[in-house]
Order: sequence, then C-alpha cells, then structure tokens
Amino acid sequence: MDTNVRPESMQRITTKELADAFIAEQLEAVRAQVGDKKVLLALSGGVDSSVVAALLIKAIGKQLVCVHVNHGLMRKNESEDVVRIFGEQLDANLIYVDATDRFLDLLAGVAEPEKKRKIIGAEFINVFADEARKLSNEGVEFLAQGTIYPDILESIKAAEGKQAVKSHHNVGGLPEDLNFALVEPVKLLFKDEVRVVGEALGLPHAMVYRQPFPGPGLGVRCLGAITRDRLNALREADAILREEFDKNGLAEKVWQYFIAVPDIKSVGVRNESRYEGWPAIIRAVNTVDAMTATIEEIPYAILHHITDRITHEVEGINRVLLDLTPKPIGTIEWE
Ligand code: XMP
Repeated sequence: MDTNVRPESMQRITTKELADAFIAEQLEAVRAQVGDKKVLLALSGGVDSSVVAALLIKAIGKQLVCVHVNHGLMRKNESEDVVRIFGEQLDANLIYVDATDRFLDLLAGVAEPEKKRKIIGAEFINVFADEARKLSNEGVEFLAQGTIYPDILESIKAAEGKQAVKSHHNVGGLPEDLNFALVEPVKLLFKDEVRVVGEALGLPHAMVYRQPFPGPGLGVRCLGAITRDRLNALREADAILREEFDKNGLAEKVWQYFIAVPDIKSVGVRNESRYEGWPAIIRAVNTVDAMTATIEEIPYAILHHITDRITHEVEGINRVLLDLTPKPIGTIEWE
C-alpha cells in the first residue's frame, strides 16, 4: 500500500471527536515508530509544523528537538514569536538557527522561481543536516515534517513528469549519509483538517487559524532575484497589510493575504521629487484546501488606507496594486 495515497474510505476530519480519534491513532503510531529515539522537527511556526510539534510533544515530549531556521525570509517578528511561543510557553526542546546569510548569499542573482525553490529546499536540508550531525551522539534518527496532502499531490504530478505546478520544498530527499526516517503525521490531511486537529490538541485558536506561510517564505514573494533592500520593503509592506487586516476584522475572514513585490520599478513622486520604486501587490484569497481559490472583496476604504500607509511608510515602494486573479488560473503564490 502506498502510504502517500489517501484511502478513499478515509473520513474527512471535521469534528473534535474525529480529530481526537486521529490524534490517538497518531500518538500510538509515532511512539511505535520512534521508540526512545530523538526526532528533529523543522518548526517554521506555520500551522502545519506547529500542529506536528504539538502532536509530537504530546507523543514523545523532550525526545522531540525542534529546530527553527530563520532563513532570512520570515515575515516581520515571526522568528521571535516562534521562540516565545514554543521555547518559552510550550517549553519545547528548541534550537534557533539564524541562517539568513547562508540563504541570501546562495540566492543572490537567482531569478528563476523553480531554481529559487530548489535552492531554499536544499539549503533547508543542509541546515538540518548540520544540526542533526551536532545531535547525532544523542540518538536523533528521525526527521519530522509538516507535509500535508496538497504538497504530496503537487509533488506526485512533478515526479510523474506531468506539468508540475511548482515543487513544494517540504517534500524532499535527505542527504544519504544521514539515515533519517521521516515522521509525517499529517501528510494525508488537507489544511482544514490540520486545523481541526490543532484545536483538538489544545493549541491557541489564533495559532491554528493563522494563515499558511509557504516554506520558501518571502523568497517566493520577492519576485525574481532577491535583493536585501527589496526583501525588506516587502517585509515592511506585508506587516502593514497584516496589521490593517487584523484591525479591520479581515484576518478571520480571509484565508491568505500577503504582499508580493516584483523586480520592476516605476516612476513616482515623493516630496516633490522623482521617486522610483517597486509596486507592492496585494493578494487576498479564500479557499478550503488551497487547490482552488477565490478573491476576497476588500472594501475600497481599507484598500485606500493600506495604500496610503505602504507608499508613505515603506522605503522603496511607490505604488500598490490589487491582484484579482482566482486559482486557477493564478496559483496563490506568484512563484
Ligand atoms: P499555490 O501557490 O501552489 O499555493 O497555489 C498553495 C498553498 O501552498 C502554499 N505554498 C507552500 N507551502 N511549501 C509550503 O509549505 C511551499 O513550498 C509552498 N509553496 C506554496 C501557498 O502559500 C498556498 O497556501
């Protein structure tokens, strides 16, 4: 039986009871799989890896070693939040790695989206491998991942040579010298199911219902070849968008919303002088399982306010655009 295929008989997890049954099953399965060995988890702080962390903390406690890699492509304050919530509040075994320079140096000058994804994915594995080697004397034999079913479906298409939409970096191979087996307790679940499981595990509502963030982070939103100045502009503009969505009750209503910044400059005027800058593109979509998506209508007054703030507060941005494309035909991310 291919364990990467969701059986047709598998019931959709929509209630706490179904989630509790799934959790009980997975606690047993994880304990049986890992025994007394240690498990390394890539904890990005997104819904998927957070739910996996909570599940594994419950299953094996301090045998879980969470590694949070700050690849320099995180949203504003995100790494700080991971350290606070998991390291301090949940008392997880957490290692924080600031790998910003490693990632940004490798990505310098690389404009092609799939190449960027491959570099980020490969470097992730390298960083984990470095951490794992350091921990190898302490019995780390497993690597846990927050892979979910849409990741697998898209990667299967890629492996079959069908027109792959994009390679999601969290489904990937490990270096051969490291005999990690994978622990992927939510790999057959769709996003909405992962959230139900997260709530059943007792994670805070805000964490479980926060919007997803792609593994390659802002790397696939800083379009084309990433530069530090444009990446910073994107991060600041994105923080303003999120702040305004929170304030206006849109954060609960909209599944995913973010800024993408293309490598294009246009002419503008600021302080009565010519001011060349990048456009910030707002994307705000609703979806159930990320396979298709519709556009959320944002009131114009809010859009005007966001535009005003971004163009005045963010260095390097001189226009704000709104993306009205559903999926299909656009994917949710731009790259
Ligand atoms: P697309 O752009 O394919 O995105 O319509 C669908 C959903 O997946 C997220 N996404 C990723 N998630 N690793 C992830 O864990 C990735 O490499 C990745 N790429 C896209 C995207 O943000 C959206 O929620």
